[in-house]
Amino acid sequence: MRKPFLAGNWKMNKTAAEAQGLVKELLALLADTQDRDVAICPAFPCLAAVAQLIQGSKLRLGAQNMYFEDSGAYTGEVSADMLLAVGAEYVILGHSERRAYFGENNEIVNKKLKKALAKGLGPIVCVGEVLEEREAGKAEFVVEDHVRGAFAGISEAEAARVTIAYEPVWAIGTGKTATPNDADSMHAHIRKVLSALYSPALAENLRIQYGGSVNDKNIDELMRMPNIDGALVGGASLKAESFARIVKFIP
Ligand code: 13P
Repeated sequence: MRKPFLAGNWKMNKTAAEAQGLVKELLALLADTQDRDVAICPAFPCLAAVAQLIQGSKLRLGAQNMYFEDSGAYTGEVSADMLLAVGAEYVILGHSERRAYFGENNEIVNKKLKKALAKGLGPIVCVGEVLEEREAGKAEFVVEDHVRGAFAGISEAEAARVTIAYEPVWAIGTGKTATPNDADSMHAHIRKVLSALYSPALAENLRIQYGGSVNDKNIDELMRMPNIDGALVGGASLKAESFARIVKFIP
């Protein structure tokens, strides 16, 4: 059985003080959470402050990115060790915004994934097609390419520690959610790809989140789909009430 995994990607929002305020609200609302993994992924300057507040709680900490080198002259970058030292357990890799605005491609995502796994972080690898690709009937091809590219050269034992987030780019921040059926069928396709790359057992056990305009109104329906194991939530994770309701989805 795959345990539901709900994660909030705060993107470039919230100062450290604002992040602390949101976390305090979340801690109160989510104190009784059971049987679900919950992570929040604030911006780098907020990680330390948030880590302190969530110590001993069910909330887990994730970062939104990292670099694939250990250390050195890489101005502006952050290493896996730095994330671990500040208390992060998860790291989002290959988000579509990183691919679109910061030149990340499969090769870079693959290098980052290898480093995150080697260091013991829990990677959340984002995959997903843009609108033109969907309209051209290429969505499955693009997603398969993202999965194969990210996992190239990664052993089955390591791959088993990854979470995949399927985020169709046209659904991010647009209010347009993929229908639960469309999302579920892409998740099933991802499992088929993983089964071919590794094994049916890995494909069955790996958690796949859906991301793209997830909110407190559509989460229940999405989570009722057999291949959807959680959500990577952007906008709706910035308000305590909506993210708490997403975490408390009704199966
Ligand atoms: P929204 O939930 O704001 O559409 O963002 C989704 C996302 O990109 C999460 O990583």
